[in-house]
Amino acid sequence: MKVSHPEGNEIAPVITIDGPSGSGKGTIAGLLAKNLGWHLLDSGALYRIVAARALDLDIALDDAAALAAMAGSLSIRFAEDLVEVDGQDLTLVIRTEAVSAAASEVAALPEVRDAILQAQRAMCQPPGLVADGRDMGTVVFPGARLKIYLDASAEVRAERRYNQLKNKGLSVSLRALLTSLQERDARDKGRAVSPLEPAKDALVIDSTDLSIDEVLARIHTEALKRDLVDGV
Ligand code: DC
Repeated sequence: MKVSHPEGNEIAPVITIDGPSGSGKGTIAGLLAKNLGWHLLDSGALYRIVAARALDLDIALDDAAALAAMAGSLSIRFAEDLVEVDGQDLTLVIRTEAVSAAASEVAALPEVRDAILQAQRAMCQPPGLVADGRDMGTVVFPGARLKIYLDASAEVRAERRYNQLKNKGLSVSLRALLTSLQERDARDKGRAVSPLEPAKDALVIDSTDLSIDEVLARIHTEALKRDLVDGV
């Protein structure tokens, strides 16, 4: 897998943001990267891309060798809100419920995780990287200077997803969303490799009753303490 990124290989500071679906980590990671002027790694998008290509190419979701070979050969470009894979625009496809479910399956395979590990690490470029996922602090960037684990109750997470989809004009059932989210949580937390869990040195933030700005303010305070950002 090749993910295009700016030139240069110096070590850069990393802030990892891990947590379950709907915890708000995608939004928080995006805003944080923008505020800091740092790069953003949306690692979930990589698993979604592998899943979308597998569905498209009819590769069985348990064929670890074929999935890993395909993942290793992909050329991915992230630009603003666009996700381009081998020249094809997959921005919308990778967000569908079918791809969400398939992504959780392919992400459970160690061969697939290995195939994309180096591409993820290569995203660590100056001036810094905000890495969003499930195992950013535990496996991909264990040396990160600041590790956040963002959580929220399953009900609130399902409700957030419901509102997101409703705002896009899609009709969905809240109950179905809650069930599929709980299934994915169980799979992500229960898998043998890189299960979803807070790193030992992670700061756990429960966003159930917090606004986006409140979460960002807490992370900013922690980043200041670690000299990762300038005080304003
Ligand atoms: O964050 P997301 O919903 O876009 O992630 C899609 C799937 O990929 C989800 O089932 C969890 C999995 N994933 C993972 O196993 N490890 C990561 N670092 C990121 C996502």
